[in-house]
Amino acid sequence: MEAATRGCQCHALRAQDERYKRLGEIIAQYAGQPGALIPVLHHAQEVFGYLPHDVQVLVAEGLDVPLSEVDGVITFYSLFTSEPRGKYKIGICLGTACYVKGAAAVLEELKKQVGVDIGKTSADGLFTLEVTRCVGACGLAPVMTIGDDVYGRLTPEDVAGILDKYIQAEKNGKA
Ligand code: FES
Repeated sequence: MEAATRGCQCHALRAQDERYKRLGEIIAQYAGQPGALIPVLHHAQEVFGYLPHDVQVLVAEGLDVPLSEVDGVITFYSLFTSEPRGKYKIGICLGTACYVKGAAAVLEELKKQVGVDIGKTSADGLFTLEVTRCVGACGLAPVMTIGDDVYGRLTPEDVAGILDKYIQAEKNGKA
């Protein structure tokens, strides 16, 4: 009996979380429809920002599909992620033009400055580091995007100053 009163409060916490309520509505809207999995995952990622394991389980149960199928779709489509994303997505282009102009060295500096590897998010939740293919700005190679901002003709020495703009903006925004 005591064990029960000290048991997991996950359901209670979920019930208080508007996001799980929204997820339930999304699943109910699509349940029973063919091809529902991808649109449901898409909406779920909009709600949560990513697709954590418990959300995957709820989607699988709600749509009556195997969890392995949900996992397979998330792994296959690069637009889905099971990891939290940072506020700003950094995309360093490793297309041919950028690569020959030194993008790899810029990437190494980004890893050092952000403190994470490719595909990961900084501990403060500010940056997610990703590699992109050609973004159509080869004349500015090597190129990096941060959110909607584009930076060109980069050297590793530019990285710290650029990142600092976002860090300072975040601090000022919270001040
Ligand atoms: S290869 Fe990087 S912008 Fe084209």
